[in-house]
Amino acid sequence: MGRLILVSNRLPVTIHDDAADPAVGQSVSRSSGGLVAGLDPLHLNGDGIWIGYPGTDPDDNAAKLLEDMRLDPVAIPPDEYDGYYEGFSNGAIWPLFHYLLEYCEFDPQAFAAYKRVNERFAEKILEHAKDDDTIWIHDYQLMLVPSMLREKLPSARIGFFLHIPFPSSEVLRVMPQREELLRGLLGADLIGVHTFEYADHLSRSFRRVLGLEARQGVVNLSGRGVRIEAHPLGIDVDSQRNAAYSDEAEQILTRYKRSIGDAQVILGVDRLDYTKGLPNKLEAYKSLLDREPRWREGAVLIQVAVPSREAIGSYRDQKSEVERLVGEINGLYGRSGKTPIQYIYGTVSPAELGALYRLADVALVSPIRDGLNLVAKEYVAVRDDGAGVLVLSEFAGAATELGEALRINPWDIDGSAAQIERALDMSFGERNERMAPMHRRVVENDVHNWVRRFIRSLGSPKNEIPATPPMLASATLADSLSGLFASAEKPMIMLDYDGTLREFTVRHDEAKPTDEIRSIVSGLSSLKDADVFINTGRDRQTIGDWFEGVDVTLIAEHGSWIKYKGDTDWQRTGDEPDLSWQAEAMPILEDYKSRTPGVQIEKKSSGLVWHYREAEADIGEFQALDLTTHLENTLAGAPIEILTGSKIVEIRQYGVDKGRAFKNVEELRGPYDFVLAIGDDRTDEDLFEAIGSEGFTVHVGPGGSLAASSLHSPASVRRLLTHLINARS
Ligand code: UDP
Ligand code: G6P
Repeated sequence: MGRLILVSNRLPVTIHDDAADPAVGQSVSRSSGGLVAGLDPLHLNGDGIWIGYPGTDPDDNAAKLLEDMRLDPVAIPPDEYDGYYEGFSNGAIWPLFHYLLEYCEFDPQAFAAYKRVNERFAEKILEHAKDDDTIWIHDYQLMLVPSMLREKLPSARIGFFLHIPFPSSEVLRVMPQREELLRGLLGADLIGVHTFEYADHLSRSFRRVLGLEARQGVVNLSGRGVRIEAHPLGIDVDSQRNAAYSDEAEQILTRYKRSIGDAQVILGVDRLDYTKGLPNKLEAYKSLLDREPRWREGAVLIQVAVPSREAIGSYRDQKSEVERLVGEINGLYGRSGKTPIQYIYGTVSPAELGALYRLADVALVSPIRDGLNLVAKEYVAVRDDGAGVLVLSEFAGAATELGEALRINPWDIDGSAAQIERALDMSFGERNERMAPMHRRVVENDVHNWVRRFIRSLGSPKNEIPATPPMLASATLADSLSGLFASAEKPMIMLDYDGTLREFTVRHDEAKPTDEIRSIVSGLSSLKDADVFINTGRDRQTIGDWFEGVDVTLIAEHGSWIKYKGDTDWQRTGDEPDLSWQAEAMPILEDYKSRTPGVQIEKKSSGLVWHYREAEADIGEFQALDLTTHLENTLAGAPIEILTGSKIVEIRQYGVDKGRAFKNVEELRGPYDFVLAIGDDRTDEDLFEAIGSEGFTVHVGPGGSLAASSLHSPASVRRLLTHLINARS
């Protein structure tokens, strides 16, 4: 296993020229920010390197310190950096991807600098990368790097994670360089974003801008798949809590409490960025104070505004606007010794931030657009006392996971003011009821889990797409099979049910066999010396009831149960399964069900199925992908397998699959001199693999498969089977 190479615009450190001892030279300190907070633990605990821009040219001392920390700086001339960072990254991509077209400037020279700096990053990566390394590139500043690397490292594992929103394709289309950016990303094997909405936007953009079809979250390039997955970033829960409950935090908390007295504290922590909606937040707070005099003394807003990107005019304008509003509100409602807004312009230490999270009765997170927002999660992680309330903008990516927060639309000033008031007035019971499930979720999906999920997904071979078998007309296939079938001494036919014999129905319990299907199956099964099996993932009760009166051998739940032709009882094919994992799996399936309208959960004797045929197609696909990774993570080590089939995610007992079911019957009843297997989904691939070139394998529908040929639809399958019955009758 190779090393992990992390790549981000910023190295997770700041180089200082003001060392106490000039003879020693520059010093280096760890820096802050959402991205750094997420990746630092991964780097510190591993043996890989991190490539990024150090901010300042390191002198010998700093270079040595960086090397010891396994950080490799990319050297970029200042002019070029300005065009790349302030010009294109933060003057074009950042505002556009946050839907703020009025701040966008699409300067071709800035794009040229962006491209050149992306090349510098790629060159630096190539100095280190070996074939078995995993390369994980971060964020919008480096969108061209994956393809630059792919040209040189055709078989490397390359992951890309976008930490900001991916906008609707309608907005992306505005960008003159939209095609180049999208093509840049296609060098990755896996593109991660925070929410399935962003994943959906990205897939649609590939289709709309580049004409590339993304199916089930995979863009199929010739022979290589590029997967798009939603992995909301988590936080380092332990270090947040350690900082918040440290002695230093305790002292800071006491100091704050003493100075604030009885007033309730509302807390805001934001980079001073126009996406964070600070003016809207201040207007909402003002509206509350205008309307409700009791909060002029009864509440205080502590707003930490972290300086950011100050060389860009729109950021400086935002700062002035925020300061003006703070001054106005404090001027209007300040009394001696009481200011309604305590404005902290600067960074605060982790201990102070932790103390503020503990102090705050209400956290007010109100961006007008935010990829995720870690502050919301950090507050929730620290507040397991149940006394805090999170007020959260519906435009923050974190809102999809933090559904119990009080939701605001930051553009609705009076509505936001009303929600702030509701938070201040909320009973302890309700605060606790809302906070507890969010706390559990944030702790569960922490940054370590996020990293594991992404890296595991990047390492999984899911994007190796099997070849597409030739699609034949049923009459053509019948011509080549009829003679062999008619003359075979002991033929066997194994048929999947849903999507193979029977078209899918919207509800999975409505797919009863039609009279035509029953008559075809009886016809086949009554042929002399022929062994015919329906081999389905369905539970035995359903398939048994549906084929009552048809004399055919049924195999249910992918091979867990078998009922031979002529028998009335089902037999288990193996040992009683261990189902203890279901207690852990069920709440996860329920959680995703509650967030995906149209989903049904099916309980089988040896497994659980999450059906999303009735869900809105794109949402269903992305939730299913997300659910799969979540389950893989949580149930690692359980005796199960997780399958993604046609509009289902299924958890089934390990070691039971349709291929083994085939091998078992072949051993008991074979050898056969003619084998035909037909199926349409992922679970039938096990069957095709087990049969290999021993028989005829047929996949139903378009797309890749291990089968030797394909038929168009269940209707074509029925036509083929009718031909075969006639040939042997
Ligand atoms: N933060 C920090 N120093 C501060 C205030 C905040 O390092 O003085 C951290 C905060 O704890 C959070 C990150 O900065 O982890 C901000 O991340 P978020 O996703 O909220 O916004 P971003 O700045 O990435 O847009
Ligand atoms: C957001 C971006 C990060 C960026 C951070 C701070 O979280 O997604 O890539 O590092 O803001 O911004 P800055 O421009 O100071 O690096």
